[in-house]
Amino acid sequence: MQNETGKNWISHLLASALSDLKLTSYLDSLDIKVPDLNFGDYSTNAALILAKKLKENPKEAANKIIEKIQENAVAKDLVTMQEAGGFINFTLTPQFLLNNLNRILDQGDLYGCSVNGGGKTVIIEYFQNNVAKPPHVGHLRSAVIGDCLLRVFRSQGFKAVSDTHIGDWGTQFGILLFAYKEFIKAGGEKKLIEADPIDELNKLYVGMSAKIEADPALRDLGKEEFAKLEQGNTENRELWQWFVRVSLEDFENYRKILEVLPFDHNLGESFYEDKMPPILAELKQKGLLVESQGAQVVNLEPQKMGFAVLVKSDGATTYLTRDVATIKYRIEDMKLEKMLYVVDNRQAHHFNQVFEISKQANYLPDPKAVEHVDFGFMSLPEGAISTRKGTTISLRNLIDEARLRALQIIEEKNPALENKKSVSEQVALAAIKYFDLSHNRKTEIVFTWDKALSFEGNTGPYLQYTHARIHGILRKSQTNADSTQTHADTEIPRQSGFSSASVGDRELTVLRKLIQYPEIVAQVAKDYLPNNLCNYLFELSQTFNSFYQEVPVSQEQNLMIRDFRLKLITATAQVIRNGLYLLGIEAPEEM
Ligand code: ARG
Repeated sequence: MQNETGKNWISHLLASALSDLKLTSYLDSLDIKVPDLNFGDYSTNAALILAKKLKENPKEAANKIIEKIQENAVAKDLVTMQEAGGFINFTLTPQFLLNNLNRILDQGDLYGCSVNGGGKTVIIEYFQNNVAKPPHVGHLRSAVIGDCLLRVFRSQGFKAVSDTHIGDWGTQFGILLFAYKEFIKAGGEKKLIEADPIDELNKLYVGMSAKIEADPALRDLGKEEFAKLEQGNTENRELWQWFVRVSLEDFENYRKILEVLPFDHNLGESFYEDKMPPILAELKQKGLLVESQGAQVVNLEPQKMGFAVLVKSDGATTYLTRDVATIKYRIEDMKLEKMLYVVDNRQAHHFNQVFEISKQANYLPDPKAVEHVDFGFMSLPEGAISTRKGTTISLRNLIDEARLRALQIIEEKNPALENKKSVSEQVALAAIKYFDLSHNRKTEIVFTWDKALSFEGNTGPYLQYTHARIHGILRKSQTNADSTQTHADTEIPRQSGFSSASVGDRELTVLRKLIQYPEIVAQVAKDYLPNNLCNYLFELSQTFNSFYQEVPVSQEQNLMIRDFRLKLITATAQVIRNGLYLLGIEAPEEM
């Protein structure tokens, strides 16, 4: 698979020149950046750093390195170089950019894939819904970001799997059991719950929580139910299994609606139930777990992380304990090398504690193996969408509303379109997902319909529209070609006498943008920031749209140039499609 990105070639050329010059030992790492447009495609400060270390003139050092690179026989086909203020700027040759165009067309859907990951095993955890509770917008963000990362990691040659770590254990299930039994006692019917289990169970839970607030003694009755559940009481087990079953069905529905890839694992918190006691014993034995006011805690004050409660004073284990057990299991039993937790930033402290305890307990040989991929809260401006009691917005409402609005827009823009309904569903999802992904995940975002669903600007529908527009042009030029019979499926232009010398500046701008794609994707696997991929796709779309405004494509009279431009826009559509796939967004060919 290609690793032939411009950057790879340049770092290779640079490294071998520095090694010929016996300078390698003076540099810790090569820094090759994408500079502002006027400074070529890449730029390095290597010469500046060397000059400083060797007390030389930076300009001379840069020129010396440039000369050395030029001695390399392959260099002239790849780059031209300029020294500027001690920097070395590299400009990829038209020939190299054209080769890449062919590569895109050859590789198709695989363009942008790499083997960078080397088969390293990664688990990405997201869409961690809670049993008997409707998912909210926070879970949506987790699903969308996690799904994108899974796709990116897989495309980069990692062995990546997904897990939901469903919230299916804890005292809250005792409270729910208690509430359910009270409901039945008062003459309530199971049928009523079965009709709409998640909402009804949630109502029972919310109702009981309110009662507990008024009369705290009731909490103990809930705790008793949980204790019975833990001890394996048949009635409680069966009820709980029912709660879990209906919830998993509900989550699976959402997963399908959201078009998120199927999960490899659904190991809920309860899965770790029997894995906690040995861990608690071991932590105690290691002197990490100590008694404090009836609870069992790990003192993380020295790390400025407070006290972590692993067993509450009533004897119940905590969410945190289950997370420690999860890490141990993932490392020792699942043999995973890396774990990403896509969870909102309010849980940062929790994960710091979990990671620290796991490290101290030696469950985590490499502390860098775990990472909290945190994200900020997404809110909706008041009144934009109906909210249940004005608190959390259900995922269902959001999706329904998006579909309705997308359909309206499609009806207006393209009333003749055949499969309006399915296209509008794709547009609706694109709007929601892209809005989420295009913001730096660490920021708090306010969702607005106008922004998300706009067909202009940095939005999902805009990218879909650009993609469909290119396909429209291709369809039309195909029919023209068929009717005039001038040229059927064409050769790669340069092979039919087309030379790199005939590539104009406007084409070069598009080619330059296209070649950046694999590097952008590789970067997302490093910093988990899909917004950079979004930005890139937006810029690519803008580059195409101005190209198309400025030069004729299907109307071009010179057939060789026409073919070349058609190939250029075909490749552009391919890259948009590949990028959208990684974002979990469909690319309809007509809309
Ligand atoms: N279920 C939790 C919630 O909805 C999130 C779980 C996050 N993952 C974890 N391993 N703690 O808040």
